[in-house]
Amino acid sequence: MVAYEIAWWKRGVVYQIYPRSFQDSNSDGIGDLEGIRSRLDYLVWLGVDAVWLSPIFLSPMADFGYDVADYRVIDPIFGSLEDFDRLLADVHRRGLKLVLDFVPNHTSIAHAWFRESLSSRTSAKRDWYIWRDPAPGGGPPNNWLSNFGGPAWTLDPVSGQYYHHAFLPEQPDLNWRNPAVREAMYEVLKFWLDRGVDGFRVDVIWHLIKDREFRDNPPNPAYDSRQAEINRFLQLYSADQPEVHEVVAEMRAVIDLYPDRVLIGEIYLPLERLVTYYGHDLSGAHLPFNFQLIHTAWNAREIAALIHDYEIALPEGGWPNWVLGNHDQSRVAARVGKAQARIAAMLLLTLRGTPTLYYGDEIGLDRVDVAPEFVQDPWEKNEPGLGLGRDPERTPMQWDQAQYAGFSRVTPWVPLAPSHDHCNVAVLRDDPQSILSLYRALMETRRKHLVLSVGDYAQLFTSAPDVLVYERELGAERLIVLLNFSSHAQEVSLPQTDAERSVLLSTFLDRSGESVGRAVNLRAHEGVIVEYC
Ligand code: NOJ
Repeated sequence: MVAYEIAWWKRGVVYQIYPRSFQDSNSDGIGDLEGIRSRLDYLVWLGVDAVWLSPIFLSPMADFGYDVADYRVIDPIFGSLEDFDRLLADVHRRGLKLVLDFVPNHTSIAHAWFRESLSSRTSAKRDWYIWRDPAPGGGPPNNWLSNFGGPAWTLDPVSGQYYHHAFLPEQPDLNWRNPAVREAMYEVLKFWLDRGVDGFRVDVIWHLIKDREFRDNPPNPAYDSRQAEINRFLQLYSADQPEVHEVVAEMRAVIDLYPDRVLIGEIYLPLERLVTYYGHDLSGAHLPFNFQLIHTAWNAREIAALIHDYEIALPEGGWPNWVLGNHDQSRVAARVGKAQARIAAMLLLTLRGTPTLYYGDEIGLDRVDVAPEFVQDPWEKNEPGLGLGRDPERTPMQWDQAQYAGFSRVTPWVPLAPSHDHCNVAVLRDDPQSILSLYRALMETRRKHLVLSVGDYAQLFTSAPDVLVYERELGAERLIVLLNFSSHAQEVSLPQTDAERSVLLSTFLDRSGESVGRAVNLRAHEGVIVEYC
């Protein structure tokens, strides 16, 4: 197998940019497209293959762009369509790919479609959204809750009907059972595909279709009041309905009209449900996002079981993928700690399948505490004090030692991490043992050794406690990855072989080329890739 025969989205690394927080070019404290364009050389230097941008479309920003008022217009905060075309051309000139965020489940209340839908019960677009009469005794039509707290229904006092919103009242859900909605949204996909984008990450794709009868969700017996309110009920009827797969297959058919594009689905479901989004005969998403590493206990046993279960659950030909973090989840450095963040990096970049990396994780960016008066995230505002807020993982990228870390010349829209004077690209790229150097070395190694992205995976069993060992194999090439999840030094015995073995890469970046016998010594929190010479 040669690299160019394998689709880019199978062998490449995806890098997620949260545009508000990557690079501000016009000194308004908010990142923008020109800012991203000015940092493309960094992305090439780092070694990623594709860039996914969180939404950049016209939006009142009630949910920071996940409330779209016009799918074909770039929000002026981020720039213009010309800026976008220039960015796309520069991305392609560097051999990178660009993936956009498509938000089909809901629009903004400011979208012309919703304004028309709201205008009267008989408007031509009334059925483009989900309108229901009040329950028989009055009140919302059923017990569905918003993901951001409170009921998932808002009353329009003029018509006397409620509209459904799985998220904020400012984000009314589109009615995907209506063929006209589907057609209009597929035209949006084509608009961007025609401009040359390389694919889409589809927001909450498992939410698109709701129960036809709008039945009440059943109570969740495991709910406790320290959790988000949405967890009071199991989302049995409000998401993941069988008919959603028809919609995903239709989206895929649109994507397939264009060569070499990718469809990525955002799906938070248990493994056995997640893999159904590959679709019947792989007619669904190329990559249903696999977020399991984010939620699995951080130890060798659980992670090994997860990898095994995922590999087994994948449908024949379904391509795996792994995610360590995103703009909705606590930073990986905060979840597993600074020392284990290096193990996480090596794991992400040595597993079979496509890795998605969240901006800032490569410099070890930690969660940033945001004082109540600076909170931006509507979820934190709606349900304060439960630790649900997402601002801590959306803070500005840290580039250098300038006042605002080179992100902006003015105060950024969310606070910068206090660590920015030493935790920044300029400092870390000069340190041959920094986490940034590790990420770069891992991506370089992955590019050189195709076995790491597409080779077979097999766990090797070891008696060393809390060490995960696996082998990757492609044709004649074999690599062994050893990851010490513990804070103790460990000795790991490898299978007997006549071949010579040596260290290809250590997470400490200090023992490449060291020859390895039957036993490999790992330092606390050390990961090592061993090659057969
Ligand atoms: C998932 C997105 O990742 C999140 O940021 C957003 O708030 C919701 N979908 C609603 O669009």
